[in-house]
Amino acid sequence: MSNPPPARKVFVKSFGCQMNVHDAERMKDVLAGEGYADTSAIEDADLVILNTCHIRERATEKVFSELGKVREVKEARAARGVATRIAVAGCVAQAEGGEILRRQSAVDLVVGPQSYHRLPDLLRRSDNGARVVDTEFPPEDKFDHMAAPAPDAIRARGVSAFVTIQEGCDKFCAFCVVPFTRGAEVSRPVARVLDDVKRLVDAGVAEVSLLGQNVNAYHGLDERGASVGLRGLVERLATLAGLERIRYTTSHPNDFDDDLIAAHAEIDKLMPFVHLPVQSGSDRILKAMNRKHTAAQYFAIIERLRAARPDIALSSDFIVGFPGETEADFGATLDLIRRTGMASAFSFKYSPRPGTKAAELVEQVPEAVKSERLARLQRLEEDQRRAFNQATVGRVVGVLFEKQGRHPGQIGGKSPYMQAVHVDGPLNLVGRVAPVKILSLKTNSLAGELA
Ligand code: 5AD
Ligand code: SF4
Repeated sequence: MSNPPPARKVFVKSFGCQMNVHDAERMKDVLAGEGYADTSAIEDADLVILNTCHIRERATEKVFSELGKVREVKEARAARGVATRIAVAGCVAQAEGGEILRRQSAVDLVVGPQSYHRLPDLLRRSDNGARVVDTEFPPEDKFDHMAAPAPDAIRARGVSAFVTIQEGCDKFCAFCVVPFTRGAEVSRPVARVLDDVKRLVDAGVAEVSLLGQNVNAYHGLDERGASVGLRGLVERLATLAGLERIRYTTSHPNDFDDDLIAAHAEIDKLMPFVHLPVQSGSDRILKAMNRKHTAAQYFAIIERLRAARPDIALSSDFIVGFPGETEADFGATLDLIRRTGMASAFSFKYSPRPGTKAAELVEQVPEAVKSERLARLQRLEEDQRRAFNQATVGRVVGVLFEKQGRHPGQIGGKSPYMQAVHVDGPLNLVGRVAPVKILSLKTNSLAGELA
């Protein structure tokens, strides 16, 4: 009897947002159907995929330096007589397309985020050494053309899972490439999302994070062809037995309606944590950013959210050093962080992106000023995060246990507010929510005991 053909292996490295992390899983699911097993050792990989991010300049540079390293792996394997294919996926693939093949001759395949369901076909086209580019925007729901993850794959990824419900963006903030790389906003039909979540829950998932670039603009069609908003979707998901927690990210202030705010008061499974990027606290800068909302409108949303759910934890994205930003504009951003009691934040130095409106603005802020403002913002944010975490000490909170802890006998999980918590406890609590009394604050987590 002949031996079965050796299994092929794929190594995926993801940069950037949670959408990319999740897309990497979807690519692995598609490739599993083609006989590719996932590996975390790049030297063993027959196919290396760099799943790239285009949001900031440094992200793109990182891809090309990374490609230089992958090329060395490919050459070392070639010296041993084994072939390696290199694919570039994600938003740099979408934005640069064939230019990547010209800049790095070791790349075999360039595939944009809308084309992952075509990976098997693209790989076949590159079998004979052809270099292939696919950055089309298909009109159909790409997820319907993708292999569903196998129960084993779901279990290996843990008890908290991502589900894409919406993709793309029509907002065109002046600094942002997303509307160009991810295309126009599209929502997936309700039934498809429900199917995906049921499959996850059947395999043991207890928490889903609904993903979209503008997730609260969700408007999927239901079975009768009626449009359902994010609240309606959350309501339906909340009826699924076994699903304990629902989260969503990333939202836009202009789509934050009263229905969704009320959902935070009314639906227990909806977690009291909202990531709501505001970018700046200065109306002048918000206008230049084409955000189409003011700081006062943002405060009003936060006030209503707090009225609905007083314990809600807030998180946001900030850009410092947007063209024309003065010390007073930056001061308004710091004020906003203080006034909202932001518990966590992602903050970035503005980086001009080719093709965006802001890249043409002449009043660029010097690099040293950007660095200094970023450091000040991050210090403030760090203080507020510590204060928020400190305020949970002594309280009893539900923790969804996700994995074994770092020390023997320890298990770790997340509080409703996305804080990492560890306790001494049995491994069979993994996948379940249990009350925990928070005892103390560690560097990056909270220590507690089962209550
Ligand atoms: N420069 C710096 N930060 C940016 N972001 C998006 N585009 C840029 C840019 N050109 C940030 C925003 C966004 C987050 C995902 O990345 O804060 O919310
Ligand atoms: Fe980019 Fe603005 Fe759309 Fe967010 S809302 S993806 S920052 S254009």
